[in-house]
Amino acid sequence: MTPFEYAQSHGEAFVEELKSFLRIPSVSTDPAYREGIRRAAGMLRQRLLEAGFERAEIIPTEGHPVVYAEWMAAGEEAPTVLVYGHYDVQPPDPLELWETPPFEPTVRGDYLYARGVADDKGQLYTHLKAAEACYRTRGRPPVNLKCLFEGEEEIGSVHLEPFIREHRDLLAADVAVISDSHILRPDLPAILYGLRGLAYVEITVSGPAHDLHSGSYGGAVHNPLHALAAMIAALHDEEGRITVPGFYDKVRPLTEEEREELARIPFDREAWLKETGVPTDWGEPGYTIIERTSARPTLDLNGMWGGYTGEGAKTIIPARAHAKISMRLVPDQEPEEIARLLLDYLQAIAPPTVRVEGRVLHGAPPALIERHSPAMEAASRAYEFGFGKRPVLMREGGSIPVVTTFQQELGLQPVLMGFGLPDDGIHAPNERFYLPNFYRGIQTVLAFWEALADGKA
Ligand code: BES
Ligand code: ZN
Repeated sequence: MTPFEYAQSHGEAFVEELKSFLRIPSVSTDPAYREGIRRAAGMLRQRLLEAGFERAEIIPTEGHPVVYAEWMAAGEEAPTVLVYGHYDVQPPDPLELWETPPFEPTVRGDYLYARGVADDKGQLYTHLKAAEACYRTRGRPPVNLKCLFEGEEEIGSVHLEPFIREHRDLLAADVAVISDSHILRPDLPAILYGLRGLAYVEITVSGPAHDLHSGSYGGAVHNPLHALAAMIAALHDEEGRITVPGFYDKVRPLTEEEREELARIPFDREAWLKETGVPTDWGEPGYTIIERTSARPTLDLNGMWGGYTGEGAKTIIPARAHAKISMRLVPDQEPEEIARLLLDYLQAIAPPTVRVEGRVLHGAPPALIERHSPAMEAASRAYEFGFGKRPVLMREGGSIPVVTTFQQELGLQPVLMGFGLPDDGIHAPNERFYLPNFYRGIQTVLAFWEALADGKA
């Protein structure tokens, strides 16, 4: 039996196994889930050993642990592939909107539903099961494998960068591959050559020393919620451009050539409106939806709170108002600099009636990847084998912080070989993974390894 056949005949068993991984609530942002993080790392290590890896260990960091595994059985002549994935997931809220509970994986139709199934546990699993298929048939994969699975991707990979810097030799490889993104349609695969970066800040606007009776003081005390709302409203102009001074200064303009290429990517506006549920699109004038969501920077309010939000009415002027703001960045914007520009601007426009404090939560640099390389060609052929079609090259609006770290610290241009779909609902209720993509993903990974091994021989 070939590894391809083995994977094909074990698909359902793989899904059952994946379910037990998904049952572990490994939410990285909330300390209440620390035990979930620990158990997910433990299970991953165990499964790596069962898949044939010679070495698999849990390496502690200052934050959540890294799971590292190695299988160098293909010999010195064969290339070494570094596989990255993340075992942490986003918080499952709002819970009441899930049709089945987030940590009780359920198959409905062609989809498996669970928090983290597409982002990234199910995608990471394609590599694990490809390895197992090689182990059970040929005894070893055609390439040497190193796996780096982290537990902090959803909170900015803060401790991964120092880990990689300190373990350059351990992680040395010829090719890096990351499956943590999506293709366009089941019949239209895609490889990413760009990701946006991120700068995330939280701000607090303070007014009175404590909540005040809105009858006794209203009219003479500036309400911090109003001040915050006005400041937030001032961050975009009427057409959707960001007004923070200097924000666009380092944005690398799109070349005509790239714009033409991006315009050739199939895009169905009606399907997009349906997927998002919005009545119509919005955003920076002069750019297409694809450009605005992948190659132009953004500023978004993620949440805003303060005062009374419980049942019924309460008459107060609240002491404080809060907001969480994220900015998606493109080359050559730098997260620290952009966060600083925003915080300075907020101070500058704050009325004298309130005080404003801001803090930076995390960031990720934007990334562009070389589009033409033997690894990209191998990936393209692998998709053709797995999905029946050559992939399109495109940019994405999300962020994967490790991409730039791989480029800078390891000199590797990672291949962003995703298997999700745009409507998987990652970070949202009812997150799902299209099972045919899971199966084809395993086939694609197997074909990728073979193509790489052939290339080097
Ligand atoms: N898998 C996503 C990144 C992604 C999203 C790639 C959509 C392609 C399409 C990843 O898990 C993620 O959500 N990253 C965070 C990173 C941040 C916390 C630094 C993001 O983009 O919000
Ligand atoms: Zn994510």
